[in-house]
Formats: sequence, C-alpha cells, structure tokens
Amino acid sequence: MKVFATRPLPGPAWTELLDVSIGSVDDAYAEIEVLIVANEMVDGRALDRLPALRLIANFGVGYDRIDVAACRARGVAVTNTPGVLDAATADVTFALMLAARRRIVEGDQLVRAGRWASHWSAGPFLGREVNGATLGIVGLGRIGSAVMKRAVGFDMRVLSVTRREGNLDELLRASDIVTLHVPLTSETAGLLSRERLALLRDGATLVNTARGAIIDMAALVDELVSGRITAGLDVFVDEPNVPNELLSLPNVVLTPHIASSTVETRAEMTRVVVDNVLALERGAPLLTPVQ
Ligand code: DGY
Repeated sequence: MKVFATRPLPGPAWTELLDVSIGSVDDAYAEIEVLIVANEMVDGRALDRLPALRLIANFGVGYDRIDVAACRARGVAVTNTPGVLDAATADVTFALMLAARRRIVEGDQLVRAGRWASHWSAGPFLGREVNGATLGIVGLGRIGSAVMKRAVGFDMRVLSVTRREGNLDELLRASDIVTLHVPLTSETAGLLSRERLALLRDGATLVNTARGAIIDMAALVDELVSGRITAGLDVFVDEPNVPNELLSLPNVVLTPHIASSTVETRAEMTRVVVDNVLALERGAPLLTPVQ
C-alpha cells in the first residue's frame, strides 16, 4: 500500500509501517492510498488530487480539519485516536488551571528576574484557589470525564453540561473555573460568544484544551485585557499564531497545543494510527473510524 504521512510519528509502532513517504498534504501524490495527518487540513480540493485514497488516519482525536463529508462522498474512511489521550489532556487541563489561578508562570518569571525579595510578602502576589472551587465542565465525554475524576481529588464542586443536559449559561454564571471538552463542530464554533463570556464571574478562570474556535477569540482577548478573568489556553484559532495582545498579559497562561504531548501518550496515539493502517491492509475492520 502506498502510505504518505505529513511527519514521522513518535514511538516504536511507527517502524511497523514500511516505506512511508513524508511531506506536506500538498506534496501527496495521486497514487497514495493512505494519508496520515497530524491535525493538518484536508479539504475537498486536496481529496480531488488523491483519487486512489482509501484512508485518512489522523494522529489526534479531533478531526475538525478534515472534511469528513467530502471523504464520505468519495468513499474515503477517516480514523482518529480516541481513548488514549484522555489522561494526558486532563492533566494539562489541571496544569493550566493551577498555573493560571496560582500564578505559577508569573512567579517563575519573578524569581528568574531576581525580583523575589521585593515581592516576598503575602499581599501583592495572591492567586485564587483551585482546591474547593466550583468547576464547570463543558462536555462530558472521555476527556471531560477524566477531568471530573481529577476534580474529586481537589475537593471541587463540579457542574457540567453536555449536548443533552445542563444549562451552559447557568454553568458560566456559577463556576469559578470553566473548562472546555467538546469537539469543534458547526454547533460548538463560537459557543463561548462575547455574551456568554460576559457571564463569567469576576476572577473566574477559563481553560481551553479543546479547540480555539469554540471561543470568540476577540471577545476573550477583550476580557483578558480588562483583567476581569484569567485563562489557560493550549489551543488557538489560527495555530501557531496567537493574538498579539495575549503575549504580554500576566493573567493568561499560553501553551503550544501540548495537551496530549507526552512520550507515553504520543506512542499510544501512533499505535492506534498504525493499527488502523494495518487493519486496512489486511482487509479487517478499522479500529477507530469516525464515520
Ligand atoms: C487531538 O488529539 O485532537 C489533539 O488536540 C491534538 O490535535
């Protein structure tokens, strides 16, 4: 089978795929049957150039950048990597929550700048508790549930909304910390609109390890510039670009889409990608089809 990937994937399973060509999606050639992407965009135009394509295997659980309907119309299967990155993503959710509320990055910068002595008093450097806070979880799938499990250890009161249950506006009003765990779809794009962001309590913290476009980014920038809320953001609308205004703000912690980025989890993600490709080769059912 002709396999093309946008990058070599980490972990031992990768070596089981022999003879993989590497390049950007634009470099993929007409004969390829399998395209392995890591969250790169694959639209109808790209598919038109790949008539032999049978499978797009995404290295990642979110597949919002793949035009699944166009794939379906052309008989191209799509797989993702659910289940293996929940714990790692929930861990980074808590890391961002803790960093933003307890001002960990600011504290680190203060120490490195040799400014510790002048700030060493209880007054000027106060964060806000994570312990015992009210946590609003938006989306209670695998990752949201892993976050909920961790919240128990922090003695948090947990509120949640899913597609079927709960009231998002009430959750936003009542939570000290809000964390997003929904996929990016036409339903969730802009879900946290300007009006909804305004419902957040003063001093609340917003954490996003899902997708940037779930939040109205311009409105979030305004809220953060005003200093009314804090945030921990791992995902952005136009990665790797981050709104300039955020770069100098102390009340937002910024990470480069690393929620699933551990040696162990990335190796597991590669395992799932490779197993899907090998299943296609054997004519067996795909492990994690998205359609
Ligand atoms: C995922 O798995 O969707 C992560 O966000 C990496 O893209």
